[in-house]
Amino acid sequence: MSDIMEMLVRRGFLWQSFEIYGGMAGFIDYAPLGNNLRRKIENIWRKYFVINERAAEIDTPTIGIEEVFIASGHATSFTDVAIECEDCGRVYRADHYVKEKLGIEVDETVEAVKEVMEVYDLKCECGGRFKEPAPMNLMFSTKIGPGKGKNGYLRPETAQGMFVDFKRLAGYFREKLPFGVAQIGRAYRNEISPRQGVVRLREFNQAELEYFVHPAEKTHPEFPTVAGDRVKLVDKFDTEHEITLSEAVEKGIIANQILGYFIGKTRRFLLEIGIKDDKLRFRQHKDDERAHYATDCWDAEVETSYGWIEVVGIADRTDYDLRRHSAYSGEDLTIFVPYAQPVKVKRKKLVPKMNKIGPTFKEKAKKVAEAISDFDGEQADEIEIVIDGERIKLNREFFDVEEVEEEVAGEKIVPHVIEPSFGLDRISYAVLEHAFDRDVVDGEERRVLRLKRSVSPIEVAVLPLLSREPFESKAQEIVSLLRTEGIITEYDDSGSIGRRYRRFDEIGTPFCITVDHQTFEDETVTIRDRDTTRQVRVKIGDLLAILKELLKSERDITEFGEVFR
Ligand code: GLY
Repeated sequence: MSDIMEMLVRRGFLWQSFEIYGGMAGFIDYAPLGNNLRRKIENIWRKYFVINERAAEIDTPTIGIEEVFIASGHATSFTDVAIECEDCGRVYRADHYVKEKLGIEVDETVEAVKEVMEVYDLKCECGGRFKEPAPMNLMFSTKIGPGKGKNGYLRPETAQGMFVDFKRLAGYFREKLPFGVAQIGRAYRNEISPRQGVVRLREFNQAELEYFVHPAEKTHPEFPTVAGDRVKLVDKFDTEHEITLSEAVEKGIIANQILGYFIGKTRRFLLEIGIKDDKLRFRQHKDDERAHYATDCWDAEVETSYGWIEVVGIADRTDYDLRRHSAYSGEDLTIFVPYAQPVKVKRKKLVPKMNKIGPTFKEKAKKVAEAISDFDGEQADEIEIVIDGERIKLNREFFDVEEVEEEVAGEKIVPHVIEPSFGLDRISYAVLEHAFDRDVVDGEERRVLRLKRSVSPIEVAVLPLLSREPFESKAQEIVSLLRTEGIITEYDDSGSIGRRYRRFDEIGTPFCITVDHQTFEDETVTIRDRDTTRQVRVKIGDLLAILKELLKSERDITEFGEVFR
């Protein structure tokens, strides 16, 4: 186990799920500290992607009925190619196994994998031969209800819950684009052979925003706020750019302004929670790499001990999902967009000739006439209509064509959707790795987690200098005071004060408050800063206000009291 993983398990950030039964690849438990950290990251995400957008958050079931995933394409297209050993029965994800054993990238198709297997005579780790490669669907399937039940799937993304609610959501936003819908929650993928710990989970946490826009308006009014930010981009031809977002959009490296806006906003969010800028880049998916629903996609990638890993996908899903759900459900999933001024349009209209239709179609004549009147009159010489399931071709003997002028107030459109989708588990892990540091304090090596104050799972530790009265009672009084105000505070009286400081440094607690001898002379305590190990002395009466200010900023403690160490 790496040093960081050892620390995260020992100190209570992450645990192996089902550990007493030997564990199971692809599942982790969020232990107390990891749980606090992820929740804090979620709340900062909400600030960025819900509160500061024209957006709302919803919460939909994690089990979906089969119809949803047939329409979305996941039932057929959400697959990886698997290879199974004839001898030992082990199953691997083909592209990962080929990369690991041969060091080459293989397309994720059965044909490409087959070719590589033949050319390189690929064998299983046990030496056995593989069966034919085959696609494996990554969704967990289940049955809803008793008996035969109804087919269902655990959702592979939170997104579909938002698309299927589109009609209601459009009403909620008063049929006015653009609007965003967010969801934070669990998603599930039955990964073939997850071997990368926290990085490839079968049950994971997503934060997704579906931002619905007019297809002709892929802009964002707040783009100027990020336009000057310099970002590292790797485009789909593997060309690297270090460039401002406005230049990247102008040069067409990023296809539209709204993708540029969300790349910028994603970067700012990741930096705020503690991802290092020099370990962050945005990589465009290659044409053969994109998900079945996307026309363009940029991943935020973060460098970790697992290499560069994708932590966010920012995809242009166009109108793919809404059109599919509309076709499969029969519901109208359009929005009526009024023109600034009603416009007059000339159009051709078909007028049924009853003297010809009546004798030819007899009892069906009325339906034929209605179908002609309702027909869009553009292709006017011969038309095909369907009456009671029967296709009927009609030529100009059966209708006249007239030109009419109509006033049109607007048009129905199917919105496009831009989707920034965040993998919270990978993000939380990368934040921890980027914060993990070692330095030397008082001649001793110290392990310190330099987390941003805003994501530190324990915000303040209160430590009596000596583990006896009256130090303990005074420290407990301060703990109560801080907890009542919602500050996540721990009390610790075990071991030397130096050891206790080290313990809280290791879990990233930004401030330790110490009750010492002087406390009982002048009602003061010390505040110690995790990163600098400097201490200041402040009045207990001022402590709460000072800590609140420190926790919501990155201000230095020396602004708040006399430095004595
Ligand atoms: N919604 C995008 C994804 O789950 O990958």
